[in-house]
Amino acid sequence: MDNLEKIVSDALEQFSGINDAAALEQAKAHYLGKSGALTDLLKGLGKLPAEQRREAGSHINAAKDRLEAALARRREALAQLQLDARLAEEALDVTLPGRGAGRGRLHPLTRTQDRIEAIFRSIGFDVADGPEIETDWNNFTALNNPENHPARSMQDTFYVENKDAAGRPLLLRTHTSPMQVRYARMHAPPLKVIAPGRTYRVDSDATHSPMFHQVEGLWIDEDVSFADLKGVYTDFLRRFFETDELEVRFRPSFFPFTEPSAEIDMAFGAGPNKGQWLEISGAGQVHPSVIRNFGLDPERYIGFAFGSGIERLAMLRYGIHDLRLFYDGDLRFLQQFA
Ligand code: FA5
Ligand code: MG
Repeated sequence: MDNLEKIVSDALEQFSGINDAAALEQAKAHYLGKSGALTDLLKGLGKLPAEQRREAGSHINAAKDRLEAALARRREALAQLQLDARLAEEALDVTLPGRGAGRGRLHPLTRTQDRIEAIFRSIGFDVADGPEIETDWNNFTALNNPENHPARSMQDTFYVENKDAAGRPLLLRTHTSPMQVRYARMHAPPLKVIAPGRTYRVDSDATHSPMFHQVEGLWIDEDVSFADLKGVYTDFLRRFFETDELEVRFRPSFFPFTEPSAEIDMAFGAGPNKGQWLEISGAGQVHPSVIRNFGLDPERYIGFAFGSGIERLAMLRYGIHDLRLFYDGDLRFLQQFA
């Protein structure tokens, strides 16, 4: 039984030096496993004389219990060591200042559109919304565009493959002017409305984007004149830019759906393009044929319409020389419009 004491003291010493759970289980097998040292002793009991067998057996079992207990303690100690190490590694400094989620804000073009809506609402204009996929009829025909007019060409219009229920071509509206027709056919005069929204053309440079925003304006009554257009639009610009010192010109132009027609230009007051003219709008007195397409009598109703580029107004307001900056999604640019 001297041998037994030696096995136990060796085992206890070995267990206490092990720092790894897998190695501990291996050491256990060495003593208590199927062919472990203590197991061998137990197997040898059969060879002892019967009178010694009982005592030897109880010694071996006591030794076995001591080893089991030592193993359990060591396992627990190792688990505690592992937990301590993990806690140290994942230490949190609760005194650090919080990081906080960044707050978003409205895109400068959304802010521009909101300003336009607020100004026109304040002088009694309704604000209407309509589809971006339009019929060829609303976008062109009803607006007095002859069948072979160049504005219909594939060059500047995105056509959609599907046709409408009546088999007519569909397209991404090239301007907000079809809203004149839609609104007029759903409301009784006097008509006084703006219709902001997305428009699409095959266009791309510093002042043209394939997707851009326009705001249509329409005022139809029995006596709305070109002078009213100039008055209303100039007043809008003064309020939009918050100054009376504006360089604006109405330049004679042509649209099939207005007569007379004008384009409205404004000079940059700031930024790299300071002093340069930029076209912001088409406008004019609504053509009698279009008034008829509204379902109204052109002998009785008359008025003006305009269609302004929202990107262009934002460019002038903020002194931006390239409208593509609005679409790059660069936060260094966008965050300036607090
Ligand atoms: C029109 O679209 C006419 N529907 C405007 C109109 C309405 C005339 C009512 C008469 C009566 P025009 O193609 O000029 O006109 O475009 C109007 C404005 O949209 C331009 O002055 C410009 O400010 C803006 N615009 C046009 N194309 C682009 C583009 N690709 N990117 C950004 N802005 C554009
Ligand atoms: Mg134009």
